[in-house]
Amino acid sequence: MLNLDKIREDFPILNRNVNGKPLVYFDNAATSQTPQQVIDVIVEYYSKYNANIHRGVHTLSQEATDLYEQARIKIQKHFNAKHSHEIIMTSGTTHSINLVANGFSSLLKKGDEVIVSALEHHSNIVPWQMLCERTGAILKVIPMNEQGELILSDYDALLSEQTQLVFVNHISNALGTINPIKTIIEKAHQVGAAVLVDGAQSCPHIVPDVQALDVDFYVASAHKMCGPTGVGMLYGKEAWLNKLPPYQGGGEMIAEVTFEKTTYADLPHKFEAGTPNICGGIAFGAALDYMNAIGFQAIASYEQELLDYATAQLNAIDGLKIYGSSSHKASVISFNIESIHPYDIGTILDKMGIAVRTGHHCAQPIMDFYKIPGTVRASFAFYNTKDEIDVFVSAVKKAKMMLS
Ligand code: ALA
Repeated sequence: MLNLDKIREDFPILNRNVNGKPLVYFDNAATSQTPQQVIDVIVEYYSKYNANIHRGVHTLSQEATDLYEQARIKIQKHFNAKHSHEIIMTSGTTHSINLVANGFSSLLKKGDEVIVSALEHHSNIVPWQMLCERTGAILKVIPMNEQGELILSDYDALLSEQTQLVFVNHISNALGTINPIKTIIEKAHQVGAAVLVDGAQSCPHIVPDVQALDVDFYVASAHKMCGPTGVGMLYGKEAWLNKLPPYQGGGEMIAEVTFEKTTYADLPHKFEAGTPNICGGIAFGAALDYMNAIGFQAIASYEQELLDYATAQLNAIDGLKIYGSSSHKASVISFNIESIHPYDIGTILDKMGIAVRTGHHCAQPIMDFYKIPGTVRASFAFYNTKDEIDVFVSAVKKAKMMLS
């Protein structure tokens, strides 16, 4: 059972008004809000020990290095990676995916096949298309059904000895569908293919155990789970990370540099050229501490309550259609009302202090599947309340009246 009053006090932004109304923040799938505990860590970093890491003998640099490396270990433990050097700090999910896609340029050849799902965000489509352009590999797509679920029998038919890689999200950002990634991984491994799971939308709701999943690569962003923007992680099995070439060249990722030849640093530094987002990495660790202290099981069951409550009320509105009705769903509701443009509904909701996302949600193939330009998307976090859903539902009804 969550202590909602206490939790909401942790988030200063939830006290603000927007357009004269109390903020109702339902755009959590785009970015989550930041608790005071994480804000304090950011302020403390810049007030007390801002310094570059891995580079200085001086005290500030050592303090910053220790805290940054402790954050890596927190991330390792959270995702249950075997080694801390299997955690590569990145600027976010998009960076993590591009790092892997770039690395596979030297491992794929013409005619190899890679499989993506119909439910992906553009960041888990475009880097692989670019990889296919570079290598001559062929991109195949696991199709989806009307409920917004992947059709696994079609996935079976796509897999073959040519398949080298499968990339799929754990939870769809546009529809909220929770994909059966354990099965997807097992099937890929049966033909010898590696799997990358985009965990950007799952990590705010559940704790993925990368060893239990036996996943080859798992990627996530801190800002979806109460951390700052501009920082994220790539988990890769040690053997894969050793096989992939470095992504960017620069300081920190080298063992030795001469004009004749450069040798690379060991993991994880081989993939961490340049000064990283030091403060962001430390704050990422603090965000994990914060969410773990609340407890992911309690978070998931409360968010399910919010999802069920909002779904029932929205379904009762005449002309409103929800896209994505899988029984395995996170707290995301994408909808349209009759032929009203989602942007118009979003604009009216904003006037009433309610933040939702409208548009194609960086998932145009899903919109094409449903033959729509976009949706209104409400996405809930553990600090949202049923009272806020009531405000939202009556605002949606008002918007419908104004726009019909
Ligand atoms: N990927 C984020 C979203 O779904 C930005 O809104």
